Amino acid sequence: MAETTMSSPAAIRPAEKSTPASTTPPTGMSRREFLYYVWGASMALFLAETVGVSVLFALPRFREGHFGGKIKINAADFPAVNAAPVAHNEGKFWMVTTDQGIIAHYKVCTHLGCIYKWDDLGKRFACPCHGSQFQLNGDWITGPAPRGLDRFALEVYDQNDNLIAEFPNGEPAPLPSNAVTVRVDTGRKVLGKSHFT
Ligand code: FES
Repeated sequence: MAETTMSSPAAIRPAEKSTPASTTPPTGMSRREFLYYVWGASMALFLAETVGVSVLFALPRFREGHFGGKIKINAADFPAVNAAPVAHNEGKFWMVTTDQGIIAHYKVCTHLGCIYKWDDLGKRFACPCHGSQFQLNGDWITGPAPRGLDRFALEVYDQNDNLIAEFPNGEPAPLPSNAVTVRVDTGRKVLGKSHFT
């Protein structure tokens, strides 16, 4: 018959509880000092994170030349007065020239956000979704859209890249004779004219 071996008391003793290493003060340091240093390190980390986030928000969110930022265009690239508009696909706007000046219309319909098109036969912008139509200058003609087309703020520069005219309210911009480039600020959308007022 096989002999049964009894475990010694030491073998069945539960493992001793150990204090977590992170809260154990190093030798030679009181618990109060240790907690003080831990608090100091936490505060430093918190401040570093706060400063980092503030810097991140202070940086411009959109790059020049991309949608959301300013897009530079040669003034000569705008179409002739009352000619068919020219699409700027990356900037998501239509370049237009009316009797009053140049305009950059946002390409999104003011009804429910479809992409409207230029109807060359009808000489108007027309939305395929619910039939809203707009004149070349962006004014509402018909359909459920509550207002005319939205447009972007414009800045005009001379050949030395000096700012010579600003049009922050989306109004048609008459180009000065020394205009060489135009910056379309796709981060500054101006709402179209409401036809309910
Ligand atoms: Fe253009 Fe409705 S989204 S008419």
